[in-house]
Amino acid sequence: MKKVYLETFGCQMNVSDSERVATTLAKKGFEMTLREDQADVVLINTCSVREKAEQKLYTQVGRIRHSGRPKPVVGVLGCVAQLEGETLFKKIEGIDLVVGTKAVGRISDVIQRVLDGEEGIVDLGEREKDYDWNVSDAQRHSPYVAFVPIIEGCNKFCTYCIVPFSRGREVSLPASEIIRSVLEMRRSGVKEIHLIGQNVNSYRPESDSGLEGFEGATPFSRLLRAVSATGIERIKFNTSFPRDFKADIVDAINEHENLCNWVHLPVQSGSDRVLGLMKRGHTSESYKKKIDYLRSSPRDISITTDIIVGFPGETGEDFKRTVELVEYAGYDAAYIFKYSPRPGTPAYSMDDDVSPEEKTDRFLELETAQRKSQNERLKRYIGKDLEVLVEKQAVRMEMQVSGHSTCHKVVNFNGPAELIGSIEKVRITEVKSNSLFGELCNDSKAAMQLC
Ligand code: SAH
Ligand code: SF4
Ligand code: F3S
Repeated sequence: MKKVYLETFGCQMNVSDSERVATTLAKKGFEMTLREDQADVVLINTCSVREKAEQKLYTQVGRIRHSGRPKPVVGVLGCVAQLEGETLFKKIEGIDLVVGTKAVGRISDVIQRVLDGEEGIVDLGEREKDYDWNVSDAQRHSPYVAFVPIIEGCNKFCTYCIVPFSRGREVSLPASEIIRSVLEMRRSGVKEIHLIGQNVNSYRPESDSGLEGFEGATPFSRLLRAVSATGIERIKFNTSFPRDFKADIVDAINEHENLCNWVHLPVQSGSDRVLGLMKRGHTSESYKKKIDYLRSSPRDISITTDIIVGFPGETGEDFKRTVELVEYAGYDAAYIFKYSPRPGTPAYSMDDDVSPEEKTDRFLELETAQRKSQNERLKRYIGKDLEVLVEKQAVRMEMQVSGHSTCHKVVNFNGPAELIGSIEKVRITEVKSNSLFGELCNDSKAAMQLC
């Protein structure tokens, strides 16, 4: 039996693709291993969103080549594979196969062909007509949390972004299939699902099948209600595109307890001029209105975001607008990135005129502003009881377990490993830089006979 080691970089879509790859390979008689040094085949599922992400592929292949052991079969999957195709064979020595973002369903055939001696195989083709989207039987990153793709690709073409090129046009999956998957996952013990896509709220399936009778102005909010009706314990969704983020999504969250109180709404910049150059389709004012509506919810919705600093032409004044917006929004977390020019995107031909030093300065200043606002905001959790899905033992702390709250905060607390897989009420006692700390509430302790 050939052993396959699979490493995944990038977003949840890549994690989800990797889960399908692992599932397919296991079905076809390959053995998945966590030991790269023992693998006959090493697959790297790549990300191209920033130069640093892409660089990881080069580092990884270099390391394998110089490890001193007989070279395994090396395959490149994902976004870099899709964008570079066969040029990768020339760019990096030691690669045996290249499989694009939509061809992952054919991975076992491609590996077999390499094992049979064929060279230079590239598959950048489309998904098979009968591609199995059902993720209920997937080899998942967790038995309790599952990623469910609902929309692939992106039509937005923000000027800095490579994703529309690596992932192609938006394709929404049939609602009835999504609901069937969720029902099966619920039966098999999954507690939390994440409906995933580059822009989940652009969800537009070809038919209404599965959504009939569910209320809402947009298909996505109707899907949320339909998935809520499956009775699965927790539903999260990611990522939301501000322009298409409508009030009916918040209304659905308000009315259904199992729709979690967390929204990831990437703003990218607080300057209207920069937002225009980025072609985001929203202004700081229209974005703030969405924040206001989210804040008016009785559910205490946690809001997180992505921000790019140092976009071409971003002035000190533009940057100030971003700091102001961060202060206004009161994010529970913000992922800040320095602008990275991606070949092939419209922004690549703009003058990347913010110096690396200035990008670093802005990054640090924004990080400080966010940290300050985040610390203030997270204090509201102290003394509150959060429902935590216990996912694993905390790293290096034997008596601690770790999981996520409904508002998607990492929560650690003292408790036995037997709690893994259950949802517990945890009273928050401390705010740390990227997590919360708490103690198991008395009623949970009593149920566990721990006290
Ligand atoms: N679909 C999502 C996320 C796309 S990629 C959205 O529309 O927001 C994740 C994040 O990477 C983006 O939100 C953006 O902040 C960042 N990003 C994308 N391209 C980038 C680039 N060229 N340089 C720096 N950051 C980038
Ligand atoms: Fe990229 Fe914009 Fe599409 Fe998000 S919406 S994936 S940032 S092009
Ligand atoms: Fe990266 Fe591709 Fe996702 S570029 S962010 S892995 S869609």
